[in-house]
Amino acid sequence: MNTSFQNKKIIVAGGSSGIGLAVATQFKEQQAQVTITGRNAGKLKSAEEKGLKAFTVDSSNREELSLFFKNHGTIDHLVISLSGSKGIGNFSELSLQVLREGFEEKYWPVLNTVQSALPFINKGGSITLVTAISAIAKSPGTSGLAAINGALEIMIPVWAKEITNIRINAVSPGVVDTSWWDFLPEHEKSETFKQYAAKIPAGRVGRADEIANAILFLAGNEFMTGKVIGCDGGMS
Ligand SMILES: NC(=O)c1ccc[n+]([C@@H]2O[C@H](COP(=O)([O-])OP(=O)(O)OC[C@H]3O[C@@H](n4cnc5c(N)ncnc54)[C@H](OP(=O)(O)O)[C@@H]3O)[C@@H](O)[C@H]2O)c1
Repeated sequence: MNTSFQNKKIIVAGGSSGIGLAVATQFKEQQAQVTITGRNAGKLKSAEEKGLKAFTVDSSNREELSLFFKNHGTIDHLVISLSGSKGIGNFSELSLQVLREGFEEKYWPVLNTVQSALPFINKGGSITLVTAISAIAKSPGTSGLAAINGALEIMIPVWAKEITNIRINAVSPGVVDTSWWDFLPEHEKSETFKQYAAKIPAGRVGRADEIANAILFLAGNEFMTGKVIGCDGGMS
């Protein structure tokens, strides 16, 4: 049976845009007490204008994170939707320095966030990570992203067995139309989406709210733990 999220304390790390913002919005619609974190003040302010509680916290900074969780107090559900886009490209040409930066952007901030939050998560609560389908998609040009996200995904079932008083899962999205893709000029972005759409059984790229829906399912279903579920329009 699914848990009601009414009055549950939710933190969405990386909740100021894209998938994280959609997750925060869906939890709020279910009367949860939602707090989001991010780094960019403008994005946090616009989330606040939508009625979300927002805090500036850089998940690559362990001290900032520890202070934030200590001040916030107990949590029922934690979602980690921190982005990182470095590490794309065919391996023969991939700069290992850039790949290292890719790990700095996503892998270590996610681990920092999990460890800092753990003492504050109520028994029966959950952690849901947002990884990426590149971990298993075997697509050329994505071995770096596969390494970063695969390194996270492989830890999930182990954590779930070690930390049995809460549930730990991940949603692994395919291509989703969010600001993650803003490194591309608009015309290149829409061309890239068209190319992906032609290869994906769903015939289109995903929306942030569709990934959020999968995240709320994992947070709410008390029999789900140690799992990574793909939400990718059939891409993998
Ligand atoms: N979009 C896709 O096609 C796609 C596909 C597969 C997987 N994913 C994964 O989905 C997750 C969410 O991505 P998205 O598409 O929603 O991207 P997004 O719109 O760029 O959202 C990323 C969020 O993370 C925050 N963030 C990044 N680094 C942070 C840090 N060190 N500390 C605190 N907040 C941080 C950003 O806020 P600030 O910039 O203010 O810090 C923002 O709120 C990522 O892990 C991404 O790898 C996305």
